[in-house]
Amino acid sequence: MIEYRRDRLFVEGFPADRLVERFGTPLYAYSTRAVLEAYGRVRAAFSRPGTMVCYALKANPNAGVCRLLARQGAGAEVVSGGELRRALAAGFPPEKIVFSGVGKTEEELRLAVRSGILAVNLESEAELDLLDDAARSLGRRAGFSVRLNPDVDAGTHEHVTTGTAAAKFGVERPRALAMYLKAARSRRLSSQGIHCHIGSQVTSVAPYRKACAAVVSFVGDLERRGVRLGFIDLGGGMGVSYGFGKGLDLPALASALSKELSSWPDKRLIVEPGRCLVAGAGVLLTTVLFRKKTTKKDFIVTDAGMTELLRPALYGAKHPILPARRRKGGASVVDVVGPVCETADHLGRGVKLGPCKQGDVLAVLMAGAYGFSMSSQYNSRPRPAEVLVDGNRAWISRQRETYRDIIRGEV
Ligand code: LLP
Repeated sequence: MIEYRRDRLFVEGFPADRLVERFGTPLYAYSTRAVLEAYGRVRAAFSRPGTMVCYALKANPNAGVCRLLARQGAGAEVVSGGELRRALAAGFPPEKIVFSGVGKTEEELRLAVRSGILAVNLESEAELDLLDDAARSLGRRAGFSVRLNPDVDAGTHEHVTTGTAAAKFGVERPRALAMYLKAARSRRLSSQGIHCHIGSQVTSVAPYRKACAAVVSFVGDLERRGVRLGFIDLGGGMGVSYGFGKGLDLPALASALSKELSSWPDKRLIVEPGRCLVAGAGVLLTTVLFRKKTTKKDFIVTDAGMTELLRPALYGAKHPILPARRRKGGASVVDVVGPVCETADHLGRGVKLGPCKQGDVLAVLMAGAYGFSMSSQYNSRPRPAEVLVDGNRAWISRQRETYRDIIRGEV
């Protein structure tokens, strides 16, 4: 969906350089078909009957992207009141929404209860009490699951490993058991399922299998004590290829999980993919402001940087960087850096790039997940515009911010 035709990069039927003429840079462009295809791949892989795919909005909460997935029948995984509101506005039905997060506020829990979502994924006993209070004061029942910490190392970047005992996430088994038993005494709380999420950009099946085995054995404990659950939610984290290395083999994951879950055929499986649904659908387009050579380096200074795409600066992530128009000539090794006043500010280091000069447009690929959603206004930079592309049509999904947006609310 994002590929060269001759020497011109296209997003579906739209040339990247024409997107830039129309909408300027920095610009996020998303291929709607790529999102739909990725969703189709996930659905096809998880063929276990009743499996629910809850899109993790944090990867890309753009309203247009969310509406696309909601229309396909996806559910949603949210981690804040803001994401919950976005999910409802995009048309995800409440009974397909799960709410994770280690620090939900009373206000957020009340919103969850009022909206009638499927489950709040609880992270502590204190949160269980708060949810109980919220449900009582609203005169409603609240569905919940406990996020189990399975003490499994997903083998990913330390910033995004969440399933080890040292992580802030989840609840250890004895405490989780105590929470389910306590909740069983409340008339307001209804145990819907169990939750677990081991990390992000996971590229092998083994840690999922381990986590799933831990969950399955815990579910056995619960059922023996009379706690019945409707779903087993194994979270997201399915890794993708960023052009180097392999992504997670989804069919292999799905069949491994189905096997692990075979003792519980009545339990519904939930998965919460974010990245693998949207990463490949997005490209960040940026203009070359300067080419700056020093005795040590050849820098390409672009109008996008860590404020638009934080992943390289924060995780040392590597994204493919390509010219919107390929020109003939020798390649050189460059550092593509942004204009932000931080040495960490870069889009790519040691990038092999063909001829490139001031005014050229570069495309940072695989930027559809955790791109715009992690963008900031640091250095008082307005956030970029986002456009959706379908065939040869492209439209603004989110306006570029202006100086007024930056100072809004200041007195
Ligand atoms: N469910 C839960 C409870 C999560 O915490 C996450 C991601 C997901 C699902 C979706 O994971 P995914 O399928 O997208 O890997 N900013 C980082 C990734 C942080 C992921 C946080 N949690 C990055 O840019 O790599």
